[in-house]
Amino acid sequence: MNNNVQGETRQSLHGNWSSRLAFILAVTGSAVGLGNIWKFPYMAGQNGGGAFVIVYLMFVFLIGMPVMMSEILIGRRGRRNPIATMKLLGEEEGNSDIWKWIGVMGVSAGVLILSYYSVIAGWTITYIPKAFLGEFVGTDATSISKLFDNFVANPVSVILAHTIFMAINFFIIASGVKGLEKAVRFLMPGLLLLLFILFLYSLTSGSFMDGVRFMFTPNFSALNWDGVLTAMGLACFTLSIGMGAIMAYGAYLPQETSITNATVSVVIADTSIAMLAGLVIFPLVFANGLNPGEGPDLVFKTLPLVFGQMQAGTFLATIFFVLLSFAALTSALGLMEPAVAWMVESTDYTRKQCAGIIASIIWFLGLGTALSFNTMADFKFINGTIYENVDFLTSNIMLPLGAVFTTFFAAWIMSKNSTSEELGGHSVTYRIWRFLAKYFSPIAILIIFLQAIGWI
Ligand code: TRP
Repeated sequence: MNNNVQGETRQSLHGNWSSRLAFILAVTGSAVGLGNIWKFPYMAGQNGGGAFVIVYLMFVFLIGMPVMMSEILIGRRGRRNPIATMKLLGEEEGNSDIWKWIGVMGVSAGVLILSYYSVIAGWTITYIPKAFLGEFVGTDATSISKLFDNFVANPVSVILAHTIFMAINFFIIASGVKGLEKAVRFLMPGLLLLLFILFLYSLTSGSFMDGVRFMFTPNFSALNWDGVLTAMGLACFTLSIGMGAIMAYGAYLPQETSITNATVSVVIADTSIAMLAGLVIFPLVFANGLNPGEGPDLVFKTLPLVFGQMQAGTFLATIFFVLLSFAALTSALGLMEPAVAWMVESTDYTRKQCAGIIASIIWFLGLGTALSFNTMADFKFINGTIYENVDFLTSNIMLPLGAVFTTFFAAWIMSKNSTSEELGGHSVTYRIWRFLAKYFSPIAILIIFLQAIGWI
């Protein structure tokens, strides 16, 4: 049978995106989340700034873009959930169903990531009432740090917030995401606007250039292979690639939409928001004598501090944490949906039951992270606390491996006919994609990976 005809005529069971913009917004909504505003600044801070940021940007463009294009094109060609798509295309193009394991690894990565993502999202929602009640007003760096340290020191409140966040997730996933999608359309621009106001504030903080210097002056001696691996994992994480999530979205993309253009828009939007977050946070770190290497609590200590000093700070802080919670929620739905979709399709349980079971598993796994910041803070193995291990396993191992196998599949296993049809003929961009996807991305990811785990 002729593959081209199959690819063009196959339809998704769930319909298509109404427009190119709808697709871009959906992917950007999944990409922009805690990764940009919480993870990027704290990891850049822990890894010495400049060199890390530059390596991260290189990964975003040289690895992130070709991988994202591969995921979308595979998704659009298969038009099913990631596991079913990989199985179908694997059999069609590569005569083997072994490729479905890429989908399985991706679904598992989503579950594991959400287990800690939900705990951090819980911190975010806890900060809404704190902001609203004016707890940041007139504070200094020491009392803001105390506020946060006291909060996470109490396992009950951290677990409670994690439970609330997972419950919200469960209800939305169980009952459909239409309303949320609509809300996101104006919440995301809102988040961007607030970030921009904070940016203007940080411009005038007096330490803006210190922040810029920290972020963009490359001091490569501060970066070891572990840091390079972390930058690569973070690039996969913020772009939501390497776990089939983008593949699932690609399944609903109309045939005539340009995959390259859509990818470029998403990557630029996601990266700009991460950079903006950094340009807000680092000047504030230096203006207030804080430590950029503070770790996961960095954002929760710097931002409240500024809000506390700003005119209308209580109001803006409340809105900010509401918007950040929404950004986290849209990403969380993207992390959970693949597992739920897979379970609905392969068992006799209803969607509600599947959502309940998966949410409970994630909630339970999340207890490990919730306790990593208090009761079990001293329980360390391999890479540190439970949180640090789950993060390392997912971002630094599962996502990069998922990315290697996905691009390898698109560039080496799929026929040139199929891929060029999806990416629009043998244009220059097609040739660049093919070179990066065939040689550069897989080799670069593998080298960094093997270096960091000490095999080379
Ligand atoms: N990109 C999200 C963030 O930056 C996190 C994430 C990783 C994600 N993989 C995903 C979200 C898959 C949705 C789907 O916060």
